[in-house]
Amino acid sequence: QQVAERLTNIRAELDGAIAILTMNRPKALNALNDQTLEELDRIFTCLEREESILGVIITGEGKGFVAGADISQMQSYKSEEGRNYANRAQALFNKIEALEKPVIAAVNGYALGGGCELSMSCDIRIASEKAVFGQPEANLGVIPCFGGTQRLPRLVGTGIAKELIYTGRQVKAEEAKSIGLVNKVVPAESLLDEAKAMLRTILEKAPMAIRYSKVAINRGMDVDMRAGLELEKDLAAITFGTEDKQEGMDAFLGKRPAVFHNR
Ligand code: CAA
Repeated sequence: QQVAERLTNIRAELDGAIAILTMNRPKALNALNDQTLEELDRIFTCLEREESILGVIITGEGKGFVAGADISQMQSYKSEEGRNYANRAQALFNKIEALEKPVIAAVNGYALGGGCELSMSCDIRIASEKAVFGQPEANLGVIPCFGGTQRLPRLVGTGIAKELIYTGRQVKAEEAKSIGLVNKVVPAESLLDEAKAMLRTILEKAPMAIRYSKVAINRGMDVDMRAGLELEKDLAAITFGTEDKQEGMDAFLGKRPAVFHNR
């Protein structure tokens, strides 16, 4: 609550156990300036600690989700400042990706450059029909540096990632779905409801099963298959030891709905 009150570029609201973050600098299509990056960082530090919040949705106000890093701010940067900037933003996006709770990007409009990269640091992307994705950095003489050169090929494969990064081509929602960049395309007016509905479905499951699935997938993407399978074994062992595992299996065999307690 205290964090939410001190924000200027992001609106943070609670809907039950779901935090809804609305990027809210519509005059600049929610471009990520220092203030916005700092606010996102503060919010995610809070989300890591806040046990009553179980899932997160990120969306944008107006016709932008996020139209990228703030170009007017980057204009004066030379090499070292560029590196520091990338370093700071990458650390933030890694933090978003590593949050041990499900995070859905509800992409309402332009998700370009750092905006596309922000959506890719979320677990799942749901796009409105008005969403537009792209990595236009080559138009500006730089490369994607909020994780785009790494996360985009992991999501869509190197061939398509190279095409999109080399050409800077904008991709509309349906194409984004066809290349695996988004999970689902929905009408603009039902975007938030669809994101909430998917998140609620996830939150009905055993929370630790979701948390450790996320850790296994994310860390597994960084290592070879053998190491990933070792990790899967260790995390599976943790879930087999939980009360919720007993509840889930007892409920199935007892033909009744499970009631999970995150234990
Ligand atoms: N940074 C700063 N300001 C931005 C911005 C950005 N990334 N994107 C949009 N804006 C501002 C515009 O300058 C404009 O401001 P004014 O009204 O003061 O002129 C306002 O937002 C509205 O934008 P447009 O008038 O351009 O709106 P449009 O509907 O004609 O075009 C658009 C929309 C195609 C998204 C266009 O704004 C655009 O191309 N934006 C830049 C997109 C971009 O290149 N993003 C990548 C940035 S680099 C990056 O993100 C690097 C990285 O890896 C981190």
